[in-house]
Amino acid sequence: MAKSVVIIGCQWGDEGKGKLVDLLTDRVSAVVRFQGGHNAGHTLVIRGRKIILHLIPSGILREDVLCVIGNGVVISPSALMEEIKMLEQQGILVKGRLKISSACPLVLLYHVALDRAREAARCKQAIGTTGRGIGPAYEDKIARRALRVGDLLDESNFTANLREIVDYHNFILREYYRVEPVNYDQVLEQTLELRSNIDHLITDVPMLLAQIRQQNKNILFEGAQGAFLDIDHGTYPYVTSSNTTAGGASTGSGVGPLHLDYVLGITKAYTTRVGYGPFPTELKDDIGIHLAKRGQEFGATTNRPRRCGWLDLVALRRAITISSVSSLCVTKLDVLDGIESLHICIAYYYNGQRFDLLSDSKILDRCEPIYIELPGWQEITAGITEYDQLPHNARSYLQKIEELCGIPIDIVSTGADREQTVVLRDPFAI
Ligand code: IMP
Repeated sequence: MAKSVVIIGCQWGDEGKGKLVDLLTDRVSAVVRFQGGHNAGHTLVIRGRKIILHLIPSGILREDVLCVIGNGVVISPSALMEEIKMLEQQGILVKGRLKISSACPLVLLYHVALDRAREAARCKQAIGTTGRGIGPAYEDKIARRALRVGDLLDESNFTANLREIVDYHNFILREYYRVEPVNYDQVLEQTLELRSNIDHLITDVPMLLAQIRQQNKNILFEGAQGAFLDIDHGTYPYVTSSNTTAGGASTGSGVGPLHLDYVLGITKAYTTRVGYGPFPTELKDDIGIHLAKRGQEFGATTNRPRRCGWLDLVALRRAITISSVSSLCVTKLDVLDGIESLHICIAYYYNGQRFDLLSDSKILDRCEPIYIELPGWQEITAGITEYDQLPHNARSYLQKIEELCGIPIDIVSTGADREQTVVLRDPFAI
């Protein structure tokens, strides 16, 4: 039976989804991105070689896997062309393997200018966006004025519509934000390369995916960012502008919800967050610094240092519920090696009351985490590929997560490389 597996982040992004997508792509015919844009940064390390992808699905590193960008993704023509070039320079064939929905909204220069102007105007209330124009591009989509990939095919219409939309956004840039407007010719130029290469990329994605399923072949849906950056379910307004939860895989690709068979939720063994916004288990002490250093916690897109903290099960359980997560993959277990005592947040205190679940993210920054303490391990777990070889205390840590989340752990990642993985159950074989 063909299976469609959705991989999503269960925290604030950067959980290591790219590595898992890459690992599981040898079981599939297609990998599909369904939301986000080039704000994502998926780091893949294959036999020591590191590649960072922003827009193209992580399946691109396996030959014969079709890479599909669904309608839920916003596409920057320049970022896409740059990424295709980078991959081809490394000898990775992209042409013929990449398919894009005509309904993907474009991210253009005025979106970037608006993103940056808004962030600057927000001062202390800034979101800490990646500055890539993602939010304004989704705004245009919802406002029904976006230029989309399919519009590139009709040159005269495209240039006329572009003129109108540039004028509109330039008015806001100039008159409201008091910043430099964008240059129409430069925006047009940004689209030229993609326009001349777009024909063979555009595909009816829902029908393509339906066909693949009918042929009894597996599909992997690759989420970007994480549950608490979801525009509806995240720590609003400190979120990204798309649905990062599993439902987004359906609306963002045109595959009906009953054709998504399994959701693999990715969580780090601790927690990180880039950008501003509440983070109850954040550690500003030596352990936080240690996690950042050991885990090389710098954003793959902006190189900003990530904030680090203990694993938060109140948040994780919520992510599991919202996305009907079937099982977990715990990444970066090795980063906890050598820490004497580990903490897991199991509830919050707020206003003198204990909350095992929390629905109002507005009060998150005033919540005190309640922790359980578990003994750490001194042994090195980096690179371990067999569960039985993990130290006793590392296994106890994982078992505690399973017990408190009520779902199994299928995969444990013990290093950045594809090979450094313990696979307990294969999501495609269940
Ligand atoms: P935007 O997506 O650029 O609008 O940024 C909104 C928020 O999402 C900011 O806090 C970003 O740091 C965060 N964000 C966006 N993409 C990623 C990602 O791939 N990993 C982690 N955080 C992200």
